[in-house]
Amino acid sequence: MSLWQYQKVDVSQHAKGVMVDAQLVILAGDGIGPEVAAEARKVLERIAAKFGHHFQFSEGLIGGCAIDATGEALPDSTLDMCRAAQGILLGAVGGPKWDNPNAKTRPEAGLLNIRKELGLFANLRPITVSRHLVSAAPLKQEIVEGVDILFFRELTGGLYFGESGKKTGGPHGDVAYNTMIYSEHEVERIVRMAGAAARNRRKKVTSVDKANVLEVSRLWRRVTERVMTNEFPDVQLEHVLIDAMAMHLISRPKSFDVVVTENLFGDILTDEGSMLPGSMGLLPSASLGTPGPGLYEPIHGSAPDIAGKGIANPLATILASAMLLRHSLSLETEAKAIETAVDAVLAAGHRTKDIAGTGPHVSTVEMGQLVLEAIG
Ligand code: IPM
Ligand code: MN
Repeated sequence: MSLWQYQKVDVSQHAKGVMVDAQLVILAGDGIGPEVAAEARKVLERIAAKFGHHFQFSEGLIGGCAIDATGEALPDSTLDMCRAAQGILLGAVGGPKWDNPNAKTRPEAGLLNIRKELGLFANLRPITVSRHLVSAAPLKQEIVEGVDILFFRELTGGLYFGESGKKTGGPHGDVAYNTMIYSEHEVERIVRMAGAAARNRRKKVTSVDKANVLEVSRLWRRVTERVMTNEFPDVQLEHVLIDAMAMHLISRPKSFDVVVTENLFGDILTDEGSMLPGSMGLLPSASLGTPGPGLYEPIHGSAPDIAGKGIANPLATILASAMLLRHSLSLETEAKAIETAVDAVLAAGHRTKDIAGTGPHVSTVEMGQLVLEAIG
């Protein structure tokens, strides 16, 4: 599925065989971020060479490394570089070094700010289970075989961005709060994207909320119902409560096609969903929205416990680079070439540590190399 299928983007200029000249930004970030981003960059360079495109890369700072260098988690120089690009590939941000609760800023603020600044309100998180990994997945084969879900996580609103605050020294001790707030407009635009995506898939949208308790969810449900009925009458809509969804996602994952939900609900459900294929190291994501560059990243974090050991799985970031080609550059054939190569490497039995079980494993760089060889 391409971006042009739910946004009116002219792709005629990218007709097959036409050379694409693109500015791409790599934001490697912290922890395992630089290790996995380096492999994805090599893959993009290989694709450019093989298909005759020209990608110009710039590297920018974000997260903890940016705080160390500039005091800011998202320096203006990084944001300017991103605004001038067609696509941004991000590794991961964060780590114990920057966890001090009294610090002026946190690495995660860099990620939240770039999403907000670039208007990236839709986070697409596809969850598919490679048939080569089915037997190693933690859930039963008959449950996970054939899973193909596309999550639309709302990314610039909800609990992450609502009013928040803290008060110290009250009669019951300190108090802190966050607010889950959505406007009709914010719900409409993400539901519209989900509906359009479902139309090109199995024509089913599952909207996840907590409408039995939360006012904001009742608004979410009402707007979702309206947009889907008026604009996507051919697409089936179901509403599932977030607590029930946590259960259904692992008991009947094959019954879901497109899932659309609030920011924090989507954050949690997609981590849970990563256990369907068996590792967070396999899942990419695309953050899209208003016209401008998309941001592509693995759904996993900076994994400080394994950083620097050369054992991180680069496949999620490599698959994120395929999403970049598909959604930001409309290079579907090239995106498929990466996905096919990853599938071939898994079919041949190569595994990084996270998916190797008790079997042998290859390093981050070796896995990257295997994908390059499979691309040819
Ligand atoms: C994600 C991450 C981020 C989020 C963190 C690092 C801020 O968990 O992309 O899912 O919560 O959105
Ligand atoms: Mn997350």
